[in-house]
Amino acid sequence: MQSFLHFLLAGVFAARWDGASALGGVRLADGDNKCSGRVEVRRHDQWGTVCDHGWDLREAYVVCLQLGCGLAEAALPGAAYGAGRGEIWLRHVQCSGHESSLTSCAVVLHSNFHCTHENDAGVRCSGSLPSPTLTLLSPHAVFTAGESVRFGCSVLLGHHLSDFHLYRQGVATPLVTQRADQTQTRVELTLSDVETLHQGSYSCRYRIRGGFPSQLLGSPPSNAVNITVVELLTPQHWYNTSAEAPAGAVIKGHGFNITCSTPQQYPGGSFQLRLIRSNGTVRQSLPALTPAVTFTFPSAQSADEGYYYCLYRVQLGGRTFLSRESQPLPIAVRDPDPILSPMVISWLVSGLTLAVAVVVIVIVAKVLCIKEKKPSELERETRTCVDNTYVALSINKL
Ligand SMILES: *[C@@H]1O[C@H](CO)[C@@H](O)[C@H](O)[C@H]1NC(C)=O
Ligand SMILES: *[C@@H]1O[C@H](CO)[C@@H](O)[C@H](O)[C@H]1NC(C)=O
Repeated sequence: MQSFLHFLLAGVFAARWDGASALGGVRLADGDNKCSGRVEVRRHDQWGTVCDHGWDLREAYVVCLQLGCGLAEAALPGAAYGAGRGEIWLRHVQCSGHESSLTSCAVVLHSNFHCTHENDAGVRCSGSLPSPTLTLLSPHAVFTAGESVRFGCSVLLGHHLSDFHLYRQGVATPLVTQRADQTQTRVELTLSDVETLHQGSYSCRYRIRGGFPSQLLGSPPSNAVNITVVELLTPQHWYNTSAEAPAGAVIKGHGFNITCSTPQQYPGGSFQLRLIRSNGTVRQSLPALTPAVTFTFPSAQSADEGYYYCLYRVQLGGRTFLSRESQPLPIAVRDPDPILSPMVISWLVSGLTLAVAVVVIVIVAKVLCIKEKKPSELERETRTCVDNTYVALSINKL
Protein backbone atom coordinates (compact mmCIF):
# COMPACT_ATOMS: atom_id res chain seq x y z
CA MET A 1 0.00 0.00 0.00
CA GLN A 2 2.72 2.40 1.02
CA SER A 3 4.83 1.65 -2.00
CA PHE A 4 1.79 2.03 -4.21
CA LEU A 5 1.10 5.42 -2.67
CA HIS A 6 4.69 6.30 -3.04
CA PHE A 7 4.57 5.21 -6.67
CA LEU A 8 1.55 7.45 -7.21
CA LEU A 9 3.29 10.35 -5.55
CA ALA A 10 6.32 9.82 -7.72
CA GLY A 11 4.08 9.87 -10.75
CA VAL A 12 2.36 13.06 -9.68
CA PHE A 13 5.56 14.86 -8.89
CA ALA A 14 7.35 13.65 -11.99
CA ALA A 15 4.41 14.71 -14.12
CA ARG A 16 4.33 18.14 -12.56
CA TRP A 17 7.98 18.66 -13.17
CA ASP A 18 7.69 17.30 -16.68
CA GLY A 19 5.42 20.17 -17.54
CA ALA A 20 7.86 22.69 -16.19
CA SER A 21 10.87 21.19 -17.86
CA ALA A 22 11.97 21.57 -21.45
CA LEU A 23 13.44 18.11 -21.43
CA GLY A 24 10.44 16.49 -19.84
CA GLY A 25 10.86 13.67 -17.41
CA VAL A 26 13.43 11.64 -15.63
CA ARG A 27 13.31 7.93 -14.84
CA LEU A 28 15.43 5.23 -13.31
CA ALA A 29 16.07 2.14 -15.43
CA ASP A 30 17.32 -1.39 -14.66
CA GLY A 31 17.56 -0.83 -10.91
CA ASP A 32 16.67 -3.16 -8.04
CA ASN A 33 13.51 -1.15 -7.44
CA LYS A 34 11.74 1.99 -8.59
CA CYS A 35 14.09 4.14 -6.60
CA SER A 36 17.38 2.97 -7.97
CA GLY A 37 18.78 2.61 -11.46
CA ARG A 38 20.36 4.26 -14.42
CA VAL A 39 19.23 7.87 -14.74
CA GLU A 40 17.39 8.53 -17.97
CA VAL A 41 15.93 11.80 -19.20
CA ARG A 42 13.56 12.49 -22.03
CA ARG A 43 14.02 14.95 -24.83
CA HIS A 44 11.88 15.16 -27.97
CA ASP A 45 10.00 12.11 -26.74
CA GLN A 46 13.16 10.05 -26.67
CA TRP A 47 14.74 8.64 -23.57
CA GLY A 48 18.49 9.05 -23.24
CA THR A 49 21.13 8.82 -20.52
CA VAL A 50 23.23 11.15 -18.36
CA CYS A 51 27.01 11.16 -18.46
CA ASP A 52 28.74 10.59 -15.09
CA HIS A 53 31.18 13.45 -15.48
CA GLY A 54 30.82 15.55 -12.34
CA TRP A 55 28.08 13.21 -11.09
CA ASP A 56 27.83 13.24 -7.27
CA LEU A 57 25.35 13.23 -4.38
CA ARG A 58 24.04 16.70 -5.15
CA GLU A 59 22.75 15.58 -8.54
CA ALA A 60 21.55 12.30 -7.08
CA TYR A 61 19.72 14.22 -4.34
CA VAL A 62 17.83 16.27 -6.93
CA VAL A 63 16.89 13.15 -8.91
CA CYS A 64 15.67 11.28 -5.82
CA LEU A 65 13.53 14.18 -4.64
CA GLN A 66 12.23 14.74 -8.14
CA LEU A 67 11.04 11.14 -8.30
CA GLY A 68 9.52 11.12 -4.85
CA CYS A 69 12.14 8.58 -3.88
CA GLY A 70 13.24 10.23 -0.69
CA LEU A 71 16.87 11.02 -0.19
CA ALA A 72 19.94 10.03 -2.20
CA GLU A 73 22.01 7.24 -0.73
CA ALA A 74 24.55 6.95 -3.54
CA ALA A 75 25.54 8.59 -6.81
CA LEU A 76 26.85 5.79 -8.99
CA PRO A 77 29.08 6.48 -11.99
CA GLY A 78 30.37 4.09 -14.67
CA ALA A 79 27.14 2.45 -15.80
CA ALA A 80 26.65 0.79 -12.42
CA TYR A 81 23.19 -0.30 -13.54
CA GLY A 82 24.33 -1.27 -17.03
CA ALA A 83 24.91 0.74 -20.18
CA GLY A 84 21.93 2.50 -21.67
CA ARG A 85 21.02 3.09 -25.28
CA GLY A 86 20.16 6.06 -27.42
CA GLU A 87 21.39 9.60 -26.93
CA ILE A 88 23.40 10.89 -23.99
CA TRP A 89 21.24 13.90 -23.30
CA LEU A 90 23.09 15.43 -20.39
CA ARG A 91 26.80 15.82 -20.00
CA HIS A 92 28.52 17.28 -16.98
CA VAL A 93 25.42 18.40 -15.17
CA GLN A 94 26.05 20.42 -11.99
CA CYS A 95 23.32 20.81 -9.39
CA SER A 96 23.46 22.87 -6.21
CA GLY A 97 20.96 20.56 -4.51
CA HIS A 98 18.17 23.15 -4.37
CA GLU A 99 16.88 22.48 -7.87
CA SER A 100 13.49 20.94 -8.33
CA SER A 101 14.57 18.78 -11.26
CA LEU A 102 17.71 17.50 -12.88
CA THR A 103 16.98 19.51 -15.99
CA SER A 104 16.97 22.74 -13.97
CA CYS A 105 20.57 22.13 -12.97
CA ALA A 106 23.36 23.90 -14.77
CA VAL A 107 25.13 22.11 -17.57
CA VAL A 108 28.79 22.80 -18.05
CA LEU A 109 29.16 23.53 -21.73
CA HIS A 110 32.28 22.89 -23.77
CA SER A 111 33.25 19.97 -21.59
CA ASN A 112 36.03 18.02 -23.15
CA PHE A 113 35.12 14.88 -21.30
CA HIS A 114 34.37 12.07 -23.70
CA CYS A 115 31.08 10.33 -22.73
CA THR A 116 29.98 6.88 -23.82
CA HIS A 117 27.25 4.66 -22.37
CA GLU A 118 29.99 3.17 -20.20
CA ASN A 119 29.75 6.49 -18.32
CA ASP A 120 26.00 6.33 -17.71
CA ALA A 121 25.12 7.78 -14.32
CA GLY A 122 22.99 5.97 -11.75
CA VAL A 123 21.49 6.67 -8.35
CA ARG A 124 20.30 4.75 -5.35
CA CYS A 125 17.65 6.58 -3.33
CA SER A 126 16.36 5.81 0.14
CA GLY A 127 12.94 5.09 -1.34
CA SER A 128 10.10 7.11 0.03
CA LEU A 129 10.77 9.70 2.65
CA PRO A 130 10.83 8.28 6.15
CA SER A 131 7.40 8.10 7.76
CA PRO A 132 6.82 10.49 10.62
CA THR A 133 5.55 9.32 14.01
CA LEU A 134 2.30 10.62 15.44
CA THR A 135 1.75 10.59 19.20
CA LEU A 136 -1.00 11.90 21.38
CA LEU A 137 0.32 14.57 23.73
CA SER A 138 -3.01 14.91 25.52
CA PRO A 139 -3.05 12.55 28.51
CA HIS A 140 -6.10 10.62 27.26
CA ALA A 141 -7.69 9.51 24.00
CA VAL A 142 -11.32 10.24 24.81
CA PHE A 143 -12.54 13.81 24.62
CA THR A 144 -15.72 15.69 25.09
CA ALA A 145 -17.02 18.22 22.60
CA GLY A 146 -15.25 21.58 22.87
CA GLU A 147 -11.93 20.24 24.16
CA SER A 148 -8.59 20.49 22.35
CA VAL A 149 -6.58 17.48 21.25
CA ARG A 150 -2.78 17.83 21.16
CA PHE A 151 -0.78 15.64 18.81
CA GLY A 152 2.96 15.50 18.27
CA CYS A 153 4.35 14.69 14.83
CA SER A 154 8.04 13.91 14.58
CA VAL A 155 10.49 12.72 11.96
CA LEU A 156 14.09 11.58 12.10
CA LEU A 157 14.99 13.64 9.06
CA GLY A 158 16.65 16.83 10.15
CA HIS A 159 16.71 19.08 7.11
CA HIS A 160 14.67 20.67 4.37
CA LEU A 161 11.49 20.41 6.46
CA SER A 162 8.73 22.70 5.37
CA ASP A 163 5.55 21.89 7.21
CA PHE A 164 3.58 19.22 9.03
CA HIS A 165 -0.04 18.29 8.48
CA LEU A 166 -2.60 16.44 10.51
CA TYR A 167 -5.07 14.33 8.56
CA ARG A 168 -8.21 12.57 9.64
CA GLN A 169 -8.72 9.26 7.90
CA GLY A 170 -11.08 9.67 5.00
CA VAL A 171 -10.54 13.43 4.66
CA ALA A 172 -8.21 14.58 1.88
CA THR A 173 -7.44 18.04 3.24
CA PRO A 174 -5.37 18.43 6.38
CA LEU A 175 -7.23 19.58 9.48
CA VAL A 176 -4.20 21.25 11.01
CA THR A 177 -1.07 22.59 9.33
CA GLN A 178 2.03 23.69 11.17
CA ARG A 179 5.05 25.33 9.60
CA ALA A 180 8.41 24.06 10.68
CA ASP A 181 11.78 25.62 10.41
CA GLN A 182 14.14 23.56 8.26
CA THR A 183 15.74 21.67 11.11
CA GLN A 184 12.72 21.23 13.36
CA THR A 185 12.02 17.53 13.67
CA ARG A 186 8.94 17.64 15.85
CA VAL A 187 5.90 19.89 15.93
CA GLU A 188 2.75 20.05 18.02
CA LEU A 189 -0.49 19.87 16.09
CA THR A 190 -3.53 21.02 18.06
CA LEU A 191 -7.03 20.22 17.00
CA SER A 192 -9.16 22.69 18.96
CA ASP A 193 -12.83 22.71 19.82
CA VAL A 194 -13.45 19.11 18.79
CA GLU A 195 -16.89 17.88 17.85
CA THR A 196 -18.22 14.36 17.48
CA LEU A 197 -17.52 14.48 13.77
CA HIS A 198 -13.81 14.73 14.65
CA GLN A 199 -13.84 11.28 16.18
CA GLY A 200 -11.72 8.84 14.21
CA SER A 201 -8.28 7.86 13.14
CA TYR A 202 -5.53 10.45 12.63
CA SER A 203 -2.17 10.50 10.92
CA CYS A 204 0.37 13.17 10.07
CA ARG A 205 2.67 13.88 7.15
CA TYR A 206 5.39 16.38 6.54
CA ARG A 207 6.68 18.01 3.42
CA ILE A 208 10.21 18.81 2.56
CA ARG A 209 11.29 21.60 0.33
CA GLY A 210 13.45 20.26 -2.47
CA GLY A 211 14.28 22.48 -5.39
CA PHE A 212 14.39 25.95 -6.70
CA PRO A 213 11.89 27.48 -7.32
CA SER A 214 10.60 25.74 -4.26
CA GLN A 215 8.91 22.43 -4.77
CA LEU A 216 7.35 20.50 -1.94
CA LEU A 217 7.55 16.77 -1.56
CA GLY A 218 5.12 14.97 0.71
CA SER A 219 6.08 12.18 3.06
CA PRO A 220 4.12 8.98 3.49
CA PRO A 221 1.60 9.02 6.33
CA SER A 222 2.57 8.29 9.92
CA ASN A 223 1.07 5.62 12.11
CA ALA A 224 -2.59 6.08 13.04
CA VAL A 225 -3.84 7.42 16.36
CA ASN A 226 -7.51 7.05 17.25
CA ILE A 227 -9.51 9.50 19.27
CA THR A 228 -13.04 9.27 20.57
CA VAL A 229 -15.21 12.34 21.01
CA VAL A 230 -18.12 12.00 23.39
CA GLU A 231 -20.97 14.47 23.31
CA LEU A 232 -23.58 13.65 25.90
CA LEU A 233 -26.97 15.07 24.95
CA THR A 234 -29.40 16.08 27.67
CA PRO A 235 -31.63 13.15 28.61
CA GLN A 236 -35.43 13.24 28.60
CA HIS A 237 -37.76 11.81 31.20
CA TRP A 238 -41.39 11.04 31.98
CA TYR A 239 -43.31 9.23 34.67
CA ASN A 240 -46.35 7.01 34.96
CA THR A 241 -48.48 6.13 37.88
CA SER A 242 -52.02 4.98 38.66
CA ALA A 243 -54.70 6.53 36.45
CA GLU A 244 -56.60 8.22 39.32
CA ALA A 245 -53.61 10.40 40.36
CA PRO A 246 -53.90 14.05 39.27
CA ALA A 247 -51.26 15.45 36.88
CA GLY A 248 -47.86 16.01 38.51
CA ALA A 249 -48.74 13.86 41.49
CA VAL A 250 -48.76 10.29 42.69
CA ILE A 251 -50.95 8.84 45.39
CA LYS A 252 -49.36 7.72 48.61
CA GLY A 253 -49.04 3.96 48.62
CA HIS A 254 -49.44 3.68 44.85
CA GLY A 255 -46.55 2.70 42.58
CA PHE A 256 -44.94 5.07 40.11
CA ASN A 257 -42.18 4.80 37.54
CA ILE A 258 -39.76 7.39 36.15
CA THR A 259 -38.17 6.68 32.79
CA CYS A 260 -34.94 8.37 31.65
CA SER A 261 -34.01 8.27 27.99
CA THR A 262 -30.99 9.44 26.00
CA PRO A 263 -30.92 10.40 22.31
CA GLN A 264 -27.48 8.84 21.93
CA GLN A 265 -26.04 5.80 23.66
CA TYR A 266 -22.38 5.08 24.47
CA PRO A 267 -20.86 1.85 25.70
CA GLY A 268 -20.55 1.86 29.47
CA GLY A 269 -23.31 4.43 29.90
CA SER A 270 -25.59 4.68 32.92
CA PHE A 271 -28.48 6.83 34.05
CA GLN A 272 -28.50 8.70 37.28
CA LEU A 273 -31.80 9.80 38.78
CA ARG A 274 -31.55 12.66 41.25
CA LEU A 275 -34.29 13.63 43.61
CA ILE A 276 -33.91 17.10 45.05
CA ARG A 277 -36.26 17.43 48.01
CA SER A 278 -36.59 19.80 50.92
CA ASN A 279 -34.13 17.87 53.08
CA GLY A 280 -31.41 16.98 50.62
CA THR A 281 -30.62 15.07 47.47
CA VAL A 282 -31.08 11.39 46.76
CA ARG A 283 -29.24 9.70 43.89
CA GLN A 284 -29.67 6.33 42.31
CA SER A 285 -28.34 4.89 39.09
CA LEU A 286 -29.00 2.09 36.66
CA PRO A 287 -26.88 0.84 33.77
CA ALA A 288 -28.10 2.19 30.44
CA LEU A 289 -28.27 -1.07 28.53
CA THR A 290 -31.09 0.38 26.44
CA PRO A 291 -31.68 4.01 25.39
CA ALA A 292 -34.52 4.29 27.96
CA VAL A 293 -34.37 2.96 31.49
CA THR A 294 -37.14 2.92 34.11
CA PHE A 295 -36.70 3.58 37.83
CA THR A 296 -39.47 1.80 39.74
CA PHE A 297 -41.06 3.04 42.96
CA PRO A 298 -43.46 0.32 44.16
CA SER A 299 -45.13 2.42 46.88
CA ALA A 300 -44.99 6.22 46.92
CA GLN A 301 -44.15 7.83 50.27
CA SER A 302 -43.92 11.49 51.26
CA ALA A 303 -40.11 11.15 51.11
CA ASP A 304 -40.43 10.58 47.35
CA GLU A 305 -41.80 14.07 46.84
CA GLY A 306 -39.58 16.62 45.11
CA TYR A 307 -37.91 17.45 41.81
CA TYR A 308 -36.51 14.59 39.75
CA TYR A 309 -33.65 14.98 37.26
CA CYS A 310 -32.12 12.45 34.88
CA LEU A 311 -28.42 12.52 33.95
CA TYR A 312 -26.53 10.31 31.52
CA ARG A 313 -23.07 9.20 32.61
CA VAL A 314 -20.36 7.53 30.54
CA GLN A 315 -17.02 6.09 31.66
CA LEU A 316 -14.64 5.77 28.72
CA GLY A 317 -10.86 5.72 28.44
CA GLY A 318 -10.41 6.34 32.14
CA ARG A 319 -12.56 9.47 32.12
CA THR A 320 -16.07 10.08 33.36
CA PHE A 321 -18.45 12.23 31.39
CA LEU A 322 -21.75 13.49 32.71
CA SER A 323 -24.54 14.98 30.63
CA ARG A 324 -26.46 18.07 31.63
CA GLU A 325 -29.47 17.52 33.87
CA SER A 326 -32.81 17.03 32.23
CA GLN A 327 -35.55 19.55 32.95
CA PRO A 328 -36.90 19.19 36.50
CA LEU A 329 -39.80 16.75 36.87
CA PRO A 330 -41.82 17.83 39.92
CA ILE A 331 -43.69 15.05 41.68
CA ALA A 332 -46.09 15.64 44.58
CA VAL A 333 -47.25 12.80 46.81
CA ARG A 334 -50.96 13.14 47.71
CA ASP A 335 -52.93 11.40 50.42
CA PRO A 336 -55.53 9.11 48.93
CA ASP A 337 -58.82 10.90 48.05
CA PRO A 338 -61.16 10.34 51.10
CA ILE A 339 -64.28 9.78 48.88
CA LEU A 340 -62.62 6.93 47.20
CA SER A 341 -60.53 5.65 50.09
CA PRO A 342 -60.75 1.90 50.60
CA MET A 343 -62.33 2.34 54.02
CA VAL A 344 -65.09 4.55 52.62
CA ILE A 345 -65.60 2.11 49.81
CA SER A 346 -65.95 -0.79 52.25
CA TRP A 347 -68.45 1.24 54.33
CA LEU A 348 -70.42 2.00 51.21
CA VAL A 349 -70.37 -1.63 50.19
CA SER A 350 -71.49 -2.84 53.65
CA GLY A 351 -74.28 -0.22 53.80
CA LEU A 352 -75.52 -1.15 50.38
CA THR A 353 -75.42 -4.85 51.19
CA LEU A 354 -77.44 -4.24 54.36
CA ALA A 355 -80.08 -2.19 52.50
CA VAL A 356 -80.44 -4.81 49.80
CA ALA A 357 -80.74 -7.54 52.42
CA VAL A 358 -83.52 -5.65 54.28
CA VAL A 359 -85.50 -5.05 51.07
CA VAL A 360 -85.19 -8.71 50.09
CA ILE A 361 -86.33 -9.88 53.52
CA VAL A 362 -89.39 -7.55 53.49
CA ILE A 363 -90.42 -8.67 50.01
CA VAL A 364 -90.02 -12.35 50.84
CA ALA A 365 -91.98 -11.94 54.08
CA LYS A 366 -94.81 -10.12 52.27
CA VAL A 367 -95.10 -12.74 49.56
CA LEU A 368 -95.19 -15.55 52.13
CA CYS A 369 -97.81 -13.71 54.19
CA ILE A 370 -100.15 -13.19 51.13
CA LYS A 371 -99.85 -16.84 50.08
CA GLU A 372 -100.88 -18.06 53.54
CA LYS A 373 -104.14 -16.03 53.71
CA LYS A 374 -107.36 -17.67 52.34
CA PRO A 375 -108.96 -16.10 49.29
CA SER A 376 -112.34 -15.52 51.19
CA GLU A 377 -110.51 -13.70 53.90
CA LEU A 378 -108.69 -11.67 51.34
CA GLU A 379 -111.99 -10.79 49.65
CA ARG A 380 -113.50 -9.73 52.92
CA GLU A 381 -110.56 -7.66 53.83
CA THR A 382 -110.68 -5.93 50.44
CA ARG A 383 -114.34 -5.24 50.90
CA THR A 384 -113.69 -3.85 54.33
CA CYS A 385 -111.16 -1.61 52.81
CA VAL A 386 -113.68 -0.48 50.19
CA ASP A 387 -116.32 0.07 52.83
CA ASN A 388 -113.96 2.12 54.89
CA THR A 389 -113.17 4.23 51.86
CA TYR A 390 -116.80 4.69 51.24
CA VAL A 391 -117.28 5.74 54.87
CA ALA A 392 -114.41 8.10 54.55
CA LEU A 393 -115.87 9.62 51.41
CA SER A 394 -119.25 9.98 53.09
CA ILE A 395 -117.72 11.81 55.97
CA ASN A 396 -116.00 14.14 53.52
CA LYS A 397 -119.36 14.88 51.87
CA LEU A 398 -120.82 15.78 55.19
C1 LIG B 1 -8.44 2.84 15.09
O1 LIG B 1 -9.77 2.65 14.68
C2 LIG B 1 -9.93 1.82 13.57
C3 LIG B 1 -11.40 1.78 13.23
O2 LIG B 1 -11.91 3.06 13.15
C4 LIG B 1 -9.40 0.44 13.89
O3 LIG B 1 -9.51 -0.38 12.75
C5 LIG B 1 -7.95 0.54 14.32
O4 LIG B 1 -7.50 -0.71 14.72
C6 LIG B 1 -7.79 1.52 15.45
N1 LIG B 1 -6.38 1.72 15.72
C7 LIG B 1 -5.88 1.79 16.94
C8 LIG B 1 -4.43 2.05 17.02
O5 LIG B 1 -6.58 1.67 17.93
C1 LIG C 1 -43.78 0.35 36.72
O1 LIG C 1 -42.93 -0.59 36.13
C2 LIG C 1 -43.16 -1.92 36.55
C3 LIG C 1 -42.10 -2.80 35.99
O2 LIG C 1 -41.70 -2.32 34.76
C4 LIG C 1 -44.55 -2.34 36.10
O3 LIG C 1 -44.83 -3.66 36.52
C5 LIG C 1 -45.56 -1.41 36.70
O4 LIG C 1 -46.85 -1.71 36.21
C6 LIG C 1 -45.22 0.03 36.37
N1 LIG C 1 -46.10 0.91 37.13
C7 LIG C 1 -46.78 1.91 36.57
C8 LIG C 1 -47.62 2.72 37.50
O5 LIG C 1 -46.73 2.19 35.38
